[in-house]
Amino acid sequence: MSDLVQLTKMDGVAVVTINNPPVNALSSAVSAGIAAAVAQIEKDDAARAVVFIGAGRTFIAGADIKEFGELTSGKIICRESLKPLLLRIEDLRTPVVMAIHGTAFGGGLELAMAGHYRIALSSAQVGQPEVKLGIIPGAAGTQRLPRLAGVAKALEMCAEGSPVKAEDALKFGILDRLVEGDLLTGAIAFAKEVAAKAAPKTRERSEKLGTPEQNAAIFAAARETARKKQRGLLAPLAAIDAIEAGSQLPFDEACKKEEELFTKCLFSDQSKALIHAFFGEREVAKIPDVPKEMPTLGVDSVGIVGAALDRGLASIQKNYANSVKRGRFTQRFVDERLKLIRPTLDYSEFAGVDMVVEAVFESMALKKEVFSQLDRVCKPGAILATNTSSLSIDEIASATSRPQSVIGTHFFSPANVMRLLEIVRGAATGKEVIATCMQLSKKLSKVGVLVGNCMGFVGNRMFGPYRREAQFLVEEGASVEAVDNALYEFGMAMGPLATGDLAGLDVGWRIRKEFRHLQKPGIRQAFIEDRLCELGRFGQKTGAGWYKYDENRRPSPDPQVADLIRQWTSAAGIPRRQISVEEIVERCIYTLVNEGARLLEEGIALRAVDIDIIYLNGYGFPAYRGGPMWYADAVGLKKVCERIREFQQCFGNWWEPAPLLQRLGGQGKTFAEFSGWQGAAA
Ligand code: 3HC
Repeated sequence: MSDLVQLTKMDGVAVVTINNPPVNALSSAVSAGIAAAVAQIEKDDAARAVVFIGAGRTFIAGADIKEFGELTSGKIICRESLKPLLLRIEDLRTPVVMAIHGTAFGGGLELAMAGHYRIALSSAQVGQPEVKLGIIPGAAGTQRLPRLAGVAKALEMCAEGSPVKAEDALKFGILDRLVEGDLLTGAIAFAKEVAAKAAPKTRERSEKLGTPEQNAAIFAAARETARKKQRGLLAPLAAIDAIEAGSQLPFDEACKKEEELFTKCLFSDQSKALIHAFFGEREVAKIPDVPKEMPTLGVDSVGIVGAALDRGLASIQKNYANSVKRGRFTQRFVDERLKLIRPTLDYSEFAGVDMVVEAVFESMALKKEVFSQLDRVCKPGAILATNTSSLSIDEIASATSRPQSVIGTHFFSPANVMRLLEIVRGAATGKEVIATCMQLSKKLSKVGVLVGNCMGFVGNRMFGPYRREAQFLVEEGASVEAVDNALYEFGMAMGPLATGDLAGLDVGWRIRKEFRHLQKPGIRQAFIEDRLCELGRFGQKTGAGWYKYDENRRPSPDPQVADLIRQWTSAAGIPRRQISVEEIVERCIYTLVNEGARLLEEGIALRAVDIDIIYLNGYGFPAYRGGPMWYADAVGLKKVCERIREFQQCFGNWWEPAPLLQRLGGQGKTFAEFSGWQGAAA
C-alpha cells in the first residue's frame, strides 16, 4: 500500500484513510492504493465494518483532473476506470461507511455512493461538478445518484454541476446522517451500529428511478433548461442522456452508455478548453516575482470614493434586498452588513482605513485631485487603489507622495456580480500591496488577475479594437443584428454592439474625445457610435442606441438606425456589400487575438492564460472555447496569422499581425508555450 492510502483498524473496524494533499484527488496512484486496501479487507474475516475517510481538509474532490489532460494530450495512453473498483467496494461483505468532510465531488461522490452508508459533517458539500470541465461523471455517478436522490435531483446535480450542502444532501437521500464533533469517532460509532445489518447496495436500489411515463416530462424539461442556461455546452446534454439510459436499462448496460458519453466528452475540444480554464483560474494567482510567502497587509476597513451617497446606498440596499429574496442571505445578515457601511462627505474620515478604492468619473484631472486628497489624509501604508478602466496608474500615483501604495483594482460592472478583478501594477507598486490585493480578490470570491500598466490594461485594450471591428463591419454592409448574432452564436454572452448599449455608448465617446489627440493619422476610425451619441442615443439608459429599447430594456432592431447608417456610410464613400457570418466572427475574434499577442509580448499580460481568464470572467467569452488565446492556439497560429495578413491587404495596416503572432505562427508554436515575461520593469 502507498503513503497515499493507509489501512488501519479501530475497534474491529477497518479504516481506509486517503491522504493525497491538498484535495485528495483520486489519481491513478490513489486508486491503486484503495484497491490494495480493499484486497486486504476482502481477506480479513475479522473486520466488522469499513470506514473510508479523507485526511486533511477534505474527503475527495474528484478524479485527478491533471491526468485527464495528460490522457487527451497523449502524454499517457490509458487511465484505468474507477468503475470496477467501486463495484468491489459495493460488494464487500461488511458494511462500508463513507465519512465525508470538506467536499465529496465528482469521483469522490461516486466513491462515496459505492459505499453502503454515507455520513458527513454539516459543513461538508457533495456534488457532481464534471460538466464544468466539459465531461460527465465517469464512474457510475449518473447511475448511482438517481438511485439515491431520484431522477430529477440527479439531473439537476449532474447537468448543472452545482454543489449541494450536507443538510440538503441528507434530505435528498444522498447522505444517511450528519454527525457533529470528530468525524472519525462518529464514523466508527456509526459503523458499529450498522455492522450487523445487511449492507444496502446502491446499484440494486430502484425505488427512486420512476417509470418512463413519469420521467418523460422531467427529461424534456432538463434538456430545455440545459439548452437555455448552458447554451452551446455539450456535456450537460450528455449527462442527461446518461441518466435517461440509467432509468431505462439495467445498471451494467447503462454504465456502458455512460462510459461512451464520458469518453466522447473527455476528448472534445470543449472539455480541453474548460480544463484549461479550471487550471488557468488557479494559475493566475501565481505571480513570478510575488511569491506565495509574500507578507500581506491587513485590510479590515475600506473607504470608497465616488458614489452619489443616496443613490449609492439605495443601490446597495436594492442588491441586498434581491439577495434576501433569492434566499442567498438572511435579513439579519444583511442588516448587520448594512450597519458596517458609513456614508460620509468628508475625506478626513478615511484617516484610519486600511485601503481606499477610488471610483470617480473617468477623468485624469479629477482622479489626480482625489489621490492628492487621499495622500493628505490616509495613514502611512494604506493601500490607495483606483478603479480606473483605462487611465495610467503611474500618472495617478504621481499625485501622491507614496506611489508604492498605489495600485489599480479594476472591478467589472456590475461589480457585485462579475467575477473578474483586473489588478493593475504601476511601476512603483509594492509587492506586498499586490499580494494583498490578490488575496482580497479571493476573499471577495473574485478572480484577481495581475496586469501591467498601459491604456485600457489587458481587458479594455483588447476590447477597443474588437468593438471597433464590429462597427467597421456595420459600416461595410453587415446589419447591426447580423454582427451581434454572429458573435452570440459563436458563444459570446452578448454581441459587441448590444454590449455597448448596455455599458453606455457615451462612456467610450467621452474617452475617445479625451484621447483624440493621440490617434495616429491615416488610421481608419469608426464613426457611427460617435454620431449615435451626438443624437443622444447612449444605449439602454436613454432607451436608444444601436437598438431601441422598451420600458423593460428589451431591445428591438431600429429601422431608423439602419437608415442613418446607410446615409452616413454612403456620404463617407464606404461601399456596402454582403458579409458572411464567418468573416464577422474572424474579424472580431482575430482582432482580439492580435492585440492579445502584443500585450503578451510587451509583458502587460503575464501569460496567455491570464488573458483567457480575463476574457472568460469579464467579457462573456464562452468558457468552452477556453478564451481568445486558447482559441487561437486551437485554430493554429499559422492559420490565424495568414488570415490576419489577408485582412491587412484588404482593409489596411491596422491589421498588421503582431510580431509575436508571426513568430510563433512561423515556428508552429502556441501562445501557451510562450513565456516572455521579463520582470516588473519589462
Ligand atoms: N484534480 C487535480 N487537482 C485538483 C483537483 C482535482 N480534482 N481539485 C483541485 N485541484 C488542485 C488545484 O488545481 C489547486 O492546485 P494548485 O494549488 O497547484 O493551484 C489545488 O488542488 C487546490 O485547489 P483550489 O485552489 O481550487 O482549492 P479551494 O480550496 O479553493 O477549492 C475545491 C477546493 C472546491 C475542491 C476545488 O478545487 C474544486 O472545485 N476542484 C475540482 C472539483 C472537480 O471538478 N471534481 C471533479 C473532477 S472530474 C471527476 O471526478 C471525474 C469522475 O467522474 C471520474
